[in-house]
Amino acid sequence: MQQQYTKTDRKLKEPIERTVGYKTMDTGRLAERLAEAGQSHLLQFWDELSPEEQTELSADLESMNFKEINGFFKNAMEVSGHSKTEKVDSRMEPVPREVLGSVTRDRELLKAWEEEGLLRISQNKVAVLLLAGGQGTRLGVSYPKGMYDVGLPSHKTLFQIQAERILKLEQLASLQHKTQCSIPWYIMTSGRTMESTKEFFSQHNYFGLNKENVIFFQQGMLPAMDYNGRIILESKGKVSMAPDGNGGLYRALGTQKIVQDMERRGIGYIHVYCVDNILVKVADPTFIGFCVKKGGDCGAKVVEKTNPTEAVGVVCKVDGRYQVVEYSEITLATAEKRSSDGRLMFNAGNVANHFFTLSFLQDIVNTYEPQLQHHIAQKKIPFVNTQGQLIKPDKPNGIKMEKFVFDIFQFAKTFVVYEVLREDEFSPLKNADSQDGKDNPATARQALMSLHHRWVLNAGGHFVDENGTRVPAIPRNGPAGTVAPDVNQNLKDGTDLPIKCEISPLVSYGGEGLEKLVQEREFRPNLVIDLKGVHELVKNGV
Ligand code: UD1
Repeated sequence: MQQQYTKTDRKLKEPIERTVGYKTMDTGRLAERLAEAGQSHLLQFWDELSPEEQTELSADLESMNFKEINGFFKNAMEVSGHSKTEKVDSRMEPVPREVLGSVTRDRELLKAWEEEGLLRISQNKVAVLLLAGGQGTRLGVSYPKGMYDVGLPSHKTLFQIQAERILKLEQLASLQHKTQCSIPWYIMTSGRTMESTKEFFSQHNYFGLNKENVIFFQQGMLPAMDYNGRIILESKGKVSMAPDGNGGLYRALGTQKIVQDMERRGIGYIHVYCVDNILVKVADPTFIGFCVKKGGDCGAKVVEKTNPTEAVGVVCKVDGRYQVVEYSEITLATAEKRSSDGRLMFNAGNVANHFFTLSFLQDIVNTYEPQLQHHIAQKKIPFVNTQGQLIKPDKPNGIKMEKFVFDIFQFAKTFVVYEVLREDEFSPLKNADSQDGKDNPATARQALMSLHHRWVLNAGGHFVDENGTRVPAIPRNGPAGTVAPDVNQNLKDGTDLPIKCEISPLVSYGGEGLEKLVQEREFRPNLVIDLKGVHELVKNGV
């Protein structure tokens, strides 16, 4: 009879047995596979590793499909080689007006779109999917970006703000259609962010959401490689790994059985978005309603790009197919081209908010995913040299391979684009604070509080200064993604914004329902509205 181990026995025994096994027989097999793939250097420090390190390294290497990885490298380098010599400029066309909906130009249709969206939500047909597998390198934090507190009076994190918007929208749709509905929230993490993200949600009791409706899944990882296609070791016993890009979503949807989970729940429409935009309208009913009414299987939300050098991708057509072209992929002359109305010709700035029908995602997962090519990002990747010394290069020495979430636009049968106002919907958190930086905690905080300030004004409330004088109605904004100079001065002085105003998403999703709280009332600047009521905070007392 087979010997029975207790769990603890097994834990103690397995690593040792596996190590012995690899040393005798399995390392040989692994070494052979590595030699065939031209990656033998990965075992060069094997004899210097502890048994635990050997076990980990061999397990990591065993799980890798070198043939596939080498293929990815070859294709990605080829594609990148072509795109260096041949810019896409001459093949680009702007988004045609007939696929475009706009919050400013189609005002009379907004209500109908919103109602359509709310109806679909009330029928439990809408899910949201958060891309949260990035490493937040630019922001410079070691934890997932969604856990970042940008310094609002409430100190809510990005995750909490998004969770509360979902909760509120569930309530609004349920109330309007006299039903009980939910919006499942799929959260894509990576090997680096999974455990901390899950733990954070659990510690915060899922921010009031039903735990069953928060579904975590993990995207894949790929090794970093040098320019010759050799996988990089970040230490003697560890391969340098990175998430496979936000387009790793499509493979993960299949391998992690997420599409099946959506089918089981009867989902029809999915809103996919990035973690870093503090203004994101999660499951935005107007966007969803617009896409549904237009019969779109795939849609993108955009803001007007007004500055040719702004680092956002633009949605456009290339060779007749929809695509996002990043600023770095086109010449300045193309970026600066203007239409007859004076606007930039390629002005559909991608805000990384996408709409997909489930059947479109099924097609992608089942058929098209393998056709998506990896993009390459040249990086400075720390590595161990042949002497076993750790080197931190000061210029790029290798590549990371990533797929992009929008690479599937090309397969859409009916692609639609929805244009919204930047100041209402887009303020991404990319960078750490710096005096006149862009897309940082200060600009995110300001964008949210400016929006809430305007909500109060629109609902008939007023702000007065210490002397009781009404303050100007519209807070001044700087150029896209920046803060106005006087605000920068405030930030430098530590005094922050002239007006602090924060409204809990649990009170209002998009500015609705505030009249009864603020109409004909005057408030001193630091105003917080939450479920407990309307509070004026003493200046800087948060
Ligand atoms: C992204 C868009 C860009 C757009 C900009 C707007 C992509 C590829 N690019 O650029 O067109 O103008 O946002 O803010 O979408 N992520 C993963 N897994 C990964 C890598 C990233 O889930 O392997 C997630 C991140 O957590 C984040 C999102 O994808 O939520 C965007 O990633 P980021 O690297 O910040 O994209 P940008 O280069 O800023």
